[in-house]
Amino acid sequence: MKEKLEAIKAEALAKINEAKDLDALNEIKVAVLGKKGELTAVLKSMKDVAPEERPMVGQMVNEAREAIEQKLEEERTKVARMLRTEKMKRETIDVTLPGKKNIRGHRHPNQIALEDLERVFIGMGYEVVEGPEVEYDKYNFELLNIPANHPAKDEQDTFYINKEILLRTQTSPVQARIMEKGNLPIRILSAGRVFRADEVDATHSPSFHQVEGLVIDKNITMADLKGTLAQFAKEFFGEKTQVKFRPHHFPFTEPSAEVDITCFKCGGKGCRMCKGSGWIEILGCGMVHPHVLEMCGIDPNEYQGFAFGIGLERVTLLKYEIDDMRLLYENDVRFLNQF
Ligand code: DAH
Repeated sequence: MKEKLEAIKAEALAKINEAKDLDALNEIKVAVLGKKGELTAVLKSMKDVAPEERPMVGQMVNEAREAIEQKLEEERTKVARMLRTEKMKRETIDVTLPGKKNIRGHRHPNQIALEDLERVFIGMGYEVVEGPEVEYDKYNFELLNIPANHPAKDEQDTFYINKEILLRTQTSPVQARIMEKGNLPIRILSAGRVFRADEVDATHSPSFHQVEGLVIDKNITMADLKGTLAQFAKEFFGEKTQVKFRPHHFPFTEPSAEVDITCFKCGGKGCRMCKGSGWIEILGCGMVHPHVLEMCGIDPNEYQGFAFGIGLERVTLLKYEIDDMRLLYENDVRFLNQF
């Protein structure tokens, strides 16, 4: 009996020494001290031991159990500490590693051009205002002197929502809305999205952007319009830029003009950019039609004004020498990253 106990104890202690993790230690505990364990089996067989030897054997079993339990506990602490140290090593953070950089977004070239443009006009005292993209026929056409059967309505192939409501085909309706409010004088700039039933190609899109300007005050003449746009062209496209006014027709202005600037690529000599002419068209403008003033509740004998409409994409493409408008809408970051 004594030898058997010694053997169990020695074997258990040796196994404990070899155990590499907590699971192994647990297994040993069950195998030796558990309900069906070796040492428990010895205790169960006490009934076969002679009564006078029982206290001695009992004591020996207890000693063996205590020794094994103590050893188990020691080893468990050791293993736990070791595992923890290993884990800490694995989890060390190298504070000298360079940080990960987040990819930063870019302002869209259209937005850059718009902000440049707004800066120029804000500098001249204009206020930036907004108008709705879903608009009434009344503001988009009627109050701008484009009545129901006017041919201009066909030119601006319109997306209708119903008979009276449409997606605005131009930013000019903002003019009518501002004039109708009647806070005179007026000096506003309004940029935004417009819609036309156009097929997509290098110079057309069913949705693009315009920037509208409107000035209403006493004693405003065509000279004010010319001076304003000449100044804008210089600030936006460069000091040497010159402007040329070509007679044109818009229903809501009289007289009306289209404005060309000297090609900023060749300075007016003629190149691919300006198709050899030395001039590039950038906007439409004119003196606000007296009938438009009247319809919007302004007395044309007392107040006059001018207006202009700039195609934002057109200006952006020119400024950055981009040859296909579709690039502006694809939002390919490899393209946008360049601005
Ligand atoms: N709305 C015109 C267009 O879409 C552009 C325009 C021309 C606006 C003359 C104006 C203007 O304010 O006076 O073609």
